[in-house]
Amino acid sequence: MYPALQKELDTFERRTPRSAEAHKKNLKRLPLGVASNYRAYDPYPIFVAEASGSRFRDLDGNEYIDHNLCFGTLMAGHSHPAVVKAVEGRLHKGTAYGMPHNMEWELAEEICTRFPLEMCRFGNSGTEVTMHSIRLARAATGRDKIIKFEGGYHGLHDAALVSVKPHPPKDDFGDVDNPKPVSAGAGMPKASIANVLIATFNDLETVERRFRENPNEIAALILEPIMMNVGLCLPQKGFLEGLRALCDKHGALLIFDEVKTGAKLCWGGASEYFGVLPDMICLAKSIGGGFPLAAFGAHKRVMDLISEHKVFHGGTYNTNPISMVAGLAVFREVLTRANYTHVAELSNRLVGGYKKTIAKTGLQGYVASAGANGALMLYPKEVRNYRDWLAIDVDLWRYYWFGMVNRGVMCQPYWWDEQWTISVQHSEADIDRHLAAFADIADSLAASQQERLGVVATH
Ligand SMILES: Cc1ncc(COP(=O)(O)O)c(C=O)c1O
Repeated sequence: MYPALQKELDTFERRTPRSAEAHKKNLKRLPLGVASNYRAYDPYPIFVAEASGSRFRDLDGNEYIDHNLCFGTLMAGHSHPAVVKAVEGRLHKGTAYGMPHNMEWELAEEICTRFPLEMCRFGNSGTEVTMHSIRLARAATGRDKIIKFEGGYHGLHDAALVSVKPHPPKDDFGDVDNPKPVSAGAGMPKASIANVLIATFNDLETVERRFRENPNEIAALILEPIMMNVGLCLPQKGFLEGLRALCDKHGALLIFDEVKTGAKLCWGGASEYFGVLPDMICLAKSIGGGFPLAAFGAHKRVMDLISEHKVFHGGTYNTNPISMVAGLAVFREVLTRANYTHVAELSNRLVGGYKKTIAKTGLQGYVASAGANGALMLYPKEVRNYRDWLAIDVDLWRYYWFGMVNRGVMCQPYWWDEQWTISVQHSEADIDRHLAAFADIADSLAASQQERLGVVATH
């Protein structure tokens, strides 16, 4: 371990004793001491006391500029005034009906006019909507198999939790031009995994191969148009267009998992950003302003499978009025053209600042960014897929993350496959503080990296 990382870990433990104590208590009743595995890391996770706008405070009273924002759920920022006002106005009018109401049409209209969709249905999480989209695609085609990309995360259901970090382990996952499906944990039926075919992101030949090997068997190809579970990995020129053409040729549906990109890339999400139209879109996270809200949609002819009672979709909490009123506030008052401009300006400032510091220090790395998202990628070359991403120097990344956190900047969620989110409530001053923290550790980061690279080079 880098001595500099050890120093940051010591500082972290000195600054956050109440989190350590709270985690110890949690461990007795919650596996890993957390409510979602993604929140667990060593030595223990920071426990939050409260949050507002672009910041949160931990149990020890330390304040952080927040670019975690609940794993990218809060392009609105914490407790956005428009969302809070809308929710407060509904709280005494019932919190769950299990019956239709007028906000359903209103929000469906917002979604179907912004994204290339004719009809949609609502849910509560990204997991739910990718699961329902895949089922619909299977019903629409009468086929069972799907293609997903190695490393791509689409939630926790059986069709999605395949070939995702922390697995597949290197010795088990096949060649990069012929990746094998690997379960991401125990409890996954082999029969489900057999229906999931794996391809390599930014490699059309691997997708073509799957279609060739499974003629008339593939219902859908699901992907994040920008792969976000390897830091931030952009599709190379022509890749999305190539996928569209392959799906058309083989009669499979193209599903864009826009759980992250839908709200945060630009006004119309990935279809607008890249000019490629999918058959189905999954939305969640930032469309709810911090409340559990998700949606999936497609052409009417696909969604009619639900209307015709051929495909079943339901959910007790679907369109609960609190999430729906929050969603309406988000679409009408948060995801506005003016706010996209504001976030783009902040992103330019942040990315420009990182680039300057990287150039000055000689750190081997680059910044990848798109819309409200970005990440410091500690690689000498651009990451094109999951295998490239695996080469990261984890200790160096941990040094970056703990170093930033100790300087009051939660630069992204913990884990080196994540990325930052800039919210509409961030300010230039927040970005400048973020950049100052990075500038403060960058020399030492570069020196640690050089030391290790030097050692590797001389062996
Ligand atoms: C691209 C993508 N799809 C699906 C999901 C699952 O969403 P949820 O955690 O709301 O179930 C996530 C969550 O991080 C995601 O990033």
